[in-house]
Amino acid sequence: MDASEGMITSVENIDWESHLAERTHRMKSSVIRELLKLTMVPDIISFAGGLPAPELFPIREFDEACHHVLQNEGERALQYGPTEGHRPLKEFLAEKMSKYGIWVELENILMVSGSQQGLDLIGKLFIDPGTSIISSRPTYLGAIQAWNAYQAHFCTVPLDDDGMCVDELPSLLDANPDSRFIYVLPNFHNPAGITMPIDRRKRLVEIARQYDLAIIEDDPYGELRYEGEDITPIFRLAPERTIYLSTFSKTLAPGIRLAWIVAPKPIIQRLVQAKQGADLHTSMFIQMIANDICKRGILRQHVKRLRQVYEQRRDTMLDALAEHMPAETSWTHPKGGLFLWASTPDQIDTRVFLEKATAAKVAYVPGFAFYPDEKGGSHSMRLNFSNAREEMINEGIYRMGIAMKKELAGG
Ligand SMILES: Cc1ncc(COP(=O)(O)O)c(C=O)c1O
Repeated sequence: MDASEGMITSVENIDWESHLAERTHRMKSSVIRELLKLTMVPDIISFAGGLPAPELFPIREFDEACHHVLQNEGERALQYGPTEGHRPLKEFLAEKMSKYGIWVELENILMVSGSQQGLDLIGKLFIDPGTSIISSRPTYLGAIQAWNAYQAHFCTVPLDDDGMCVDELPSLLDANPDSRFIYVLPNFHNPAGITMPIDRRKRLVEIARQYDLAIIEDDPYGELRYEGEDITPIFRLAPERTIYLSTFSKTLAPGIRLAWIVAPKPIIQRLVQAKQGADLHTSMFIQMIANDICKRGILRQHVKRLRQVYEQRRDTMLDALAEHMPAETSWTHPKGGLFLWASTPDQIDTRVFLEKATAAKVAYVPGFAFYPDEKGGSHSMRLNFSNAREEMINEGIYRMGIAMKKELAGG
C-alpha cells in the first residue's frame, strides 16, 4: 500500500458545506475573526482580548492545590463525576452567593465548563429556530455566537449610562410576543463597562413579570468592583425567573474553564440533561483544585489583589485617554470589570480604522462585533485594561491617539 493512501491531505474533500445543518451556516463571524487576526502581530499592544493579567495568576497556589488533591483524593479527582458538580465546591459557592443576598440550596447550582458553556446550554434549552430573545445593543459577543447557532432572533434595546434602556422593552415585547428571555449584564457590562442601578433592575424585573419572561443574568465581573457599593443582583429580586451565571475565569484563571449557574430547580434539572449531552460533567480534578483554593482563602486574597491592580490599570487607561485621544472622543468610566467603551469622531469607522491602528501596533475590538446584526457600533470600540501593564497601557493609548489624529487630519 502506498504510504500516502488514506491520508487526509491526499484526498479531495467533499463539499462539506452542503452536508452541514441549516443552523451551522449562522455559526460564524468570519469578518470579526479576520479582523482579529490583524491584531496578532508581534510587538502589538492589544486591548482587544478580555484577558486577565497573566503575571498575577496564582500559579504556586494551583501547584500546591494539585498536590493536595492528588495526594488526598486522587482516585475521585481522576474518576468520572456527577453532572451537577462537586458538592463541597457548590457548598462554598452557596455560602459565597449568600453574601450577595442570594440564598440557594445545592440543587439550585450547576457547575459548568465556563459561563460560555452555560450560555450554550441555555440556548439549547430555550431557543428554537427564529425564537426571539431580548438583549442590549451592544451585548456580549460570546452570547451572540452561542445563540446564533440555535438560530435565535435577537431583539435589542440600546444602552445608556445606566445599562439597558428597559423602558423600551414593553413596545419591543408587544411587537415580539413570542420572546423567551431577556439577557442582561448588570455589572460592568461587556463591552460597555456600564453598571445598572437598583431602580432599573427593579423595573426590568417588573417588566419580566408582566410579560412572564425569564431573565438571564450574566455576571462574570461582579466581584471586580473598584469603587462604589455592590448592587443587589437581579436573581435576588426575581429568584422565580432568573438564571444567574458567574465564573472563576476572571477571579482565578480562565484556563481552568470553571463556572456556575444558579437557577430554579426545574431549570437546573433541564440544564443537567443538556450538559450530559455536551460533556457529561465538568472536570472533577479542576473542581477539586478550585475547591482547595477557595477553602484556603486564596480566592478572597487573590480577588483583593486583582481589584488593586486592575483599578490602577483602569485609572492609567482613563488618564492616558484624556491625555492622548483627539478632543472629539469620549469613553465610559467603568466602576469595575475589565473594559471600557470608547466613542470616536464620525470620520473614524472603527472597523476600517483597525488596520491603521494595528499598523501603529495597537489593537482593540471594533464596536460592530457586539451588535447581533453587525449594524451599529461603527464609531465605538471596546478597550480592555486588565491585561497590559501600566506602561504598556500608556504607550498603547498614545499610539492610538497619534494614529487617530493622523486619520482625522486626512491620513
Ligand atoms: C459577559 C460574559 N459572559 C460570559 C463569558 C465567558 O466566561 P467563561 O470564561 O466562564 O466561559 C465572558 C468572558 O469574557 C463574558 O464577558
